[in-house]
Amino acid sequence: MITDFSETAQEVLIELEKTQRDFWNISRPTALFLYNLIKNEGFTHGLEVGTSNGYSGIWLSTALKSNGGTLDTIEFYEKRYSIACENFEKCGTSDVVTIRPGEACDVLRALPEDFMIDFAFVDANKRESVEYFKLIHPHLKAGGIFTCDNVLSHKEKVQTYIDAINSHPDYRHVVLDLPAGLSFARKIK
Ligand SMILES: C[S@@+](CC[C@H](N)C(=O)[O-])C[C@H]1O[C@@H](n2cnc3c(N)ncnc32)[C@H](O)[C@@H]1O
Repeated sequence: MITDFSETAQEVLIELEKTQRDFWNISRPTALFLYNLIKNEGFTHGLEVGTSNGYSGIWLSTALKSNGGTLDTIEFYEKRYSIACENFEKCGTSDVVTIRPGEACDVLRALPEDFMIDFAFVDANKRESVEYFKLIHPHLKAGGIFTCDNVLSHKEKVQTYIDAINSHPDYRHVVLDLPAGLSFARKIK
């Protein structure tokens, strides 16, 4: 297993995987991919849209924390982000995680202009993915990575997002054949 995770964190992840379908969590292979990506790229400022119970956030925040970084994560469902809060606490990353409660588009619109990130992971309302992309774009540094889950499992719902990122001159985009399909784009300028 991965050395950054405490024994408790490893147990929490295994426990959360038992209710993965109830909380719409990403797959372990996708989580591992994102974790390794953040570590290898040395990213320090991450933003997630769609916290749920914190499963993906545990992976992201553990990688970011080991790089000396932080994670901001957005969720509108109080019951879910309360559980996430407890899970970050148990896994030892609550000191680097900020949960931003509310409607994702409203929260993103309210971000300060100087809120800058090098990594984004979108996993909330699939039809709104294009809006999240447009709202996150000014906050993502050149060289940073934008990712979005479920682009194969929810192809129709994310089509406007796929068209927007494919035609955007600032991004180089591919779809990775991970479970559900992960959209992966580097902001090149
Ligand atoms: C697929 S789940 C996220 C799973 C999480 N990323 C994980 O892998 O552990 C999507 C989450 O986004 C939240 N969500 C959906 N639409 C939203 C919106 N418009 N604003 C904020 N949160 C939203 C849902 O309540 C749900 O918890």
